[in-house]
Amino acid sequence: MWSSWGSIQKFLGWMIGINYHGILGRKIDVPFHFLFLTTLHIVYYYSILGGISARRAFEFGRTYVVRPKGKHQATIIWLHGLGDNGSSWSQLLETLPLPNIKWICPTAPTQPISIFGGFPSTAWFNVGDISEDAADDLEGLDASAAHVANLLSTEPADIKLGVGGFSMGAATALYSVSCFTVGKYGNGNPYPANLSAAVGLSGWLPCSKTLSNKLQGLDEATRRAQYFPVLLCHGKGDDVVPYKFGEKSSKCLSSNGFQDVTFKAYNGLGHYTIPEEMDEVCAWLTSKLGLEGNSA
Ligand SMILES: *[C@@H]1O[C@H](CO)[C@@H](O)[C@H](O)[C@H]1NC(C)=O
Ligand SMILES: *[C@@H]1O[C@H](CO)[C@@H](O)[C@H](O)[C@H]1NC(C)=O
Repeated sequence: MWSSWGSIQKFLGWMIGINYHGILGRKIDVPFHFLFLTTLHIVYYYSILGGISARRAFEFGRTYVVRPKGKHQATIIWLHGLGDNGSSWSQLLETLPLPNIKWICPTAPTQPISIFGGFPSTAWFNVGDISEDAADDLEGLDASAAHVANLLSTEPADIKLGVGGFSMGAATALYSVSCFTVGKYGNGNPYPANLSAAVGLSGWLPCSKTLSNKLQGLDEATRRAQYFPVLLCHGKGDDVVPYKFGEKSSKCLSSNGFQDVTFKAYNGLGHYTIPEEMDEVCAWLTSKLGLEGNSA
């Protein structure tokens, strides 16, 4: 992460800010349950944290699938934000005019989150220190990227595959893109999926500082990066994942040889999505994946 995340309070906004419902013109506040933690609970969660620090087990939650209403041409894994679940996004994605896309919306594992003092939340990776030099949770990112690739592994060979997400879901999608481009996960294991497009809303690119090193001297990776289409959208009024994180991610991809990056900025948009943004996603996916639309 590139710079100060601001106050912890903003971070806690990740929990109550599950407001992609902005598309419906309203914001839903999720109960701020961890405020009601007793000291005993906190001690309990710390003891869990200590107990699993040596070996983390990732148990992913339920997966929700939105079947294509027309001819199936593409499958996209869509990843929710911190504290959310696959169900909420699947309901939104189902309403989009994209009849050729099958959406797969997994739910992240519930795991202790360092920034919440170890309180568990659904998350694709752990979020630690609030600083520019905060270490990325490579183990968590790899586990989630592997879960995504695994969900794609049973799709038919002629179906185009994509990844997308919101906030830390977008970060995980973009991490998957870097694994695909380099050809391996952070842990060195080969990356198995053949991705064709990625969408990131209000997110950032993890491990951005090491991307150029990983891509260096890999002709195949350079070729994959060159033609890989990425759409990044970010609200200028985002007070949770700052706008400049999105902008820097876009620049980082471009400077690493990604020649098909589209970056869309939205004036006045906070950490949620709006119909105008989803319209852009629909038009972009239809064009980049060569979807037939309703005519099929
Ligand atoms: C999913 O998250 C939403 C909030 O975004 C919540 O209202 C709903 O109860 C959750 N569903 C499940 C199955 O956890
Ligand atoms: C990956 O998918 C693209 C279509 O997006 C296709 O042209 C290419 O042949 C595929 N590569 C492999 C190795 O399957």
